[in-house]
Amino acid sequence: MKPNSLELCKKAAAEKAVEENITENMVIGVGSGSTVIYAVKKIAEMDKSHNLKVKCIPTSFQSSQLIIENELKLASLDQYPLLDLTIDGADEIDEDLNLIKGGGGCLVQEKILASNSKALIIIADYRKKSEFLGENWKTGIPIEIIPLAYVPLMKKMEKLGGKPQLRMAKAKAGPVITDNGNFIIDVDFGILKNPLKLNNKLNTIPGVVDTGLFIGMVSKAFIGQKDGSTLVLEGKNL
Ligand code: A5P
Repeated sequence: MKPNSLELCKKAAAEKAVEENITENMVIGVGSGSTVIYAVKKIAEMDKSHNLKVKCIPTSFQSSQLIIENELKLASLDQYPLLDLTIDGADEIDEDLNLIKGGGGCLVQEKILASNSKALIIIADYRKKSEFLGENWKTGIPIEIIPLAYVPLMKKMEKLGGKPQLRMAKAKAGPVITDNGNFIIDVDFGILKNPLKLNNKLNTIPGVVDTGLFIGMVSKAFIGQKDGSTLVLEGKNL
């Protein structure tokens, strides 16, 4: 593979997803991560050339900046509580199109927008696809937590059979602080044969804000292949 071919896979998947799903006057949730950058550029190009007048709601500081830099109309959930669709990346995608998300630390706002959208469109490259969650994504499930609860929560994750790690910042001493002012723990539960059950259990623990497990939420996944084509898979939420 050529050195930039992974980027070409992401770009092909993102552009196809935008071309096939974005129409006039839509309210669009804009996800986070490196693949979404290609989608936003394509949305901006189509918005200008076809005068689509779309409104874009961000899922993070990063996607808010992307919307502004690409001169798209920035909107909020307060104005548009029901979105036509959200377009977002993923860290891993299983056979049922369940997802692990939150590698970039933006899972809470991503899940809020996805759950208030008529459709969730996922864009990713071929490395993200696996049979079961936990097969390829080895750093654990990202879980956003309330900072004061982090020590008891680490112990509770161990009791549930997980190996938790507090996510540390790279260019700052101490932990990553999310866009919501919280911490993230990455908890390795191995290969997940029943992600729904685990997600339900984790979400009942006080101090857990939400998990990076997105279960049964995907409408379609556009997955860029090594040969430059894009595989389109339909999910339960179609
Ligand atoms: C952000 O927190 C994540 O959920 C991203 O959507 C995910 O990490 C995908 O990012 P890439 O497109 O950079 O792989």
